[in-house]
Amino acid sequence: MLPFCYLHWLDMQRFILILFSLLALTACQRTDPNSPVSLRKVTFKEMLKSREAIHAMLNGDKPYKQDELLKEAIKLKQKSQQPWAYFAEFAITQQSTSKQQADAKDFHAAAENMQQQSVALEAAAQSGQSENIRASYKAVENACIRCHQQFRPG
Ligand code: HEC
Repeated sequence: MLPFCYLHWLDMQRFILILFSLLALTACQRTDPNSPVSLRKVTFKEMLKSREAIHAMLNGDKPYKQDELLKEAIKLKQKSQQPWAYFAEFAITQQSTSKQQADAKDFHAAAENMQQQSVALEAAAQSGQSENIRASYKAVENACIRCHQQFRPG
């Protein structure tokens, strides 16, 4: 009975050790601000902030100000060029399988679409025509949603 308990205790120790190393590892990954995942998350959050600011002005949660809306549209356009470079998993290499290549093409097409829609939104914001702004905003929102449905895990 004794040796068995001893073994069990050792296993428990090893289990706890492994558990803590894994926790430490994920904590490190989460806090390294220069990792590609952190960098892309920062830009996504900024894109979301601009999108929400524009949305709030369009649905009346915040007072509508054309110069404010234009400023956010410009920010969104600039940010929408940034996250894609931090997705090494969607780079096409000679080792990529045909499924990976197809996914990468879809991903970059979705990113390209989002950039074009935010260029259009900026132009609409510049024109100040509310119908145009609403339609372009909707197109931007759809571009976010479409890519998330296909590529955002969880
Ligand atoms: C081409 C694909 C694509 C487009 C377009 C896209 N996203 Fe994402 N987004 C992703 C992926 C993939 C993730 C998951 C990122 C990760 O795992 O690091 C993500 C994650 C996010 C997150 C979560 C970041 C975090 O801290 O976890 C936010 C917020 C976000 N996107 C906002 C937006 C907004 C707003 C738009 C449109 C203006 C947009 N995204 C357009 C692919 C896209």
